[in-house]
Amino acid sequence: MNFKGRDFLRILDFSEGELHHMLDVAKKFKEMKRAGQNHKYFPEKNIVIVFEKTSTRTRCAFEVAGYDLGMGVTYLDPTGSQMGHKESIADTARVLARFYDGIEFRGFKQETVDTLAKYADVPVWNGLTDACHPTQALADFMTMEEKLGDLKGKTLAFVGDTHNNVSNSLMAMSAKMGVNYIACGPVDRRPSDEVIAACQPIAEKNGSTITITDDVHALDGKADAIYADVWLSLGEDKEKWGERIEQLRPYQVNMEMMNRARPGAIFLHCLPSFHDTNTSIGQDIFERFGLSEMEVTNEVFESERSVVFDEAENRMHTIKAVMYLTLWDK
Ligand code: CP
Ligand code: NVA
Repeated sequence: MNFKGRDFLRILDFSEGELHHMLDVAKKFKEMKRAGQNHKYFPEKNIVIVFEKTSTRTRCAFEVAGYDLGMGVTYLDPTGSQMGHKESIADTARVLARFYDGIEFRGFKQETVDTLAKYADVPVWNGLTDACHPTQALADFMTMEEKLGDLKGKTLAFVGDTHNNVSNSLMAMSAKMGVNYIACGPVDRRPSDEVIAACQPIAEKNGSTITITDDVHALDGKADAIYADVWLSLGEDKEKWGERIEQLRPYQVNMEMMNRARPGAIFLHCLPSFHDTNTSIGQDIFERFGLSEMEVTNEVFESERSVVFDEAENRMHTIKAVMYLTLWDK
């Protein structure tokens, strides 16, 4: 396996063996961190993390993972650089690659991160685009392995906006890892044909299935893990909240749904989550639509089934593994 100098742009760019290896390295880093073992392997390196969209987990995961590996980290916020406004993506890529050993990018178009990777001769890591969220899928599968053991033949059900970036990466990761994937959501928000066509043959080869359905009972007795994400993603028009709530209300993950899944089924969420009204958006939605919890009920979110904070922690360990593997040049 050779990761050196490679970009991490989408799950489909990596083989099943390579993805397994990333998870194994992440678990090793988690043990080292817990044991307080020094792993500052790259004191001579610097990375830059560029955000067109806001973030808590991804930004902090890249920063802390970078510091733990001994690197210097520069954060460029959504307004903090010339990229795209005064300087093209291609020029920015070539400039940043002269200063830094690796570049993280979170933003809108997948094309932007692909262009950065094309022009930068250092690894480029995708921290979320409209199309996918590959570092999230790694953390999710690490968490599922920790909680459920060997995942081959198990079933992951994503319930809600199955057209979104997180669902796309989870479908790809499931296909690669031989996990059955159920995308359960309204017909208007089904995964794109392109995403399904790319994942289907891989799933078949690895002995798993992909089910696209609008029936919430499709996961009854089947799902080992149920996954929810927000109903309106970063960068989408806020005017769409009303329409999205109408479409997705039947797909709220509640305790009744959890109980219909496989015994011991776990609940995952990439976060942030609208499971109460303790956010300004949550409060606004409550005032406008009378809904106090959206994609998941507070009961499920706070229950023992919920592994969302382990999942959040694992963002850091998996991102560290991706950076370590692609930067290692000894
Ligand atoms: N899950 C995730 O990517 O969270 P942030 O948007 O806070 O980075
Ligand atoms: N689908 C969500 C994921 C956030 C981590 C979004 O893009 O906003």
